Amino acid sequence: MLTFLLLLLGQGSVFGALLSQKPLRDICQRGTSVTIQCHVDSQLALMFWYRQLPGQSLTLIATANQGSEATYESGFTKDKFPIHRPNLTYSILTVNSVNPEDSSFYFCSAGDTAQHFGDGTRLSVL
Ligand SMILES: *[C@@H]1O[C@H](CO)[C@@H](O)[C@H](O)[C@H]1NC(C)=O
Repeated sequence: MLTFLLLLLGQGSVFGALLSQKPLRDICQRGTSVTIQCHVDSQLALMFWYRQLPGQSLTLIATANQGSEATYESGFTKDKFPIHRPNLTYSILTVNSVNPEDSSFYFCSAGDTAQHFGDGTRLSVL
């Protein structure tokens, strides 16, 4: 599974869609808000936001639907993780009032039959 994931992370374009995330690294103060942008080079209906806490596996935060509200997984709320999906190639995740427990990798992903991943954003909250 890990090897598979690394392949996807490293070679997204081989699978037909390339995702780019900004920023790749962010260090911020407790209580601030962090915005992560994700751009995909092809039009895929579904985009996903994940986080990976240190030493844990990927956890789905929400599915970003174009033109409607994101669908959140249990334990994640729109207030804490507002998601903007203005069009088929773009999504923005905000993490509000961050605290040290939000220090994590955040990944965007998109796909239809295969899932493609961005490079990940490493967030550290001081
Ligand atoms: C998608 O939305 C983003 C942010 O609003 C914008 O910068 C981009 O140009 C839009 N792309 C298309 C294809 O409309």
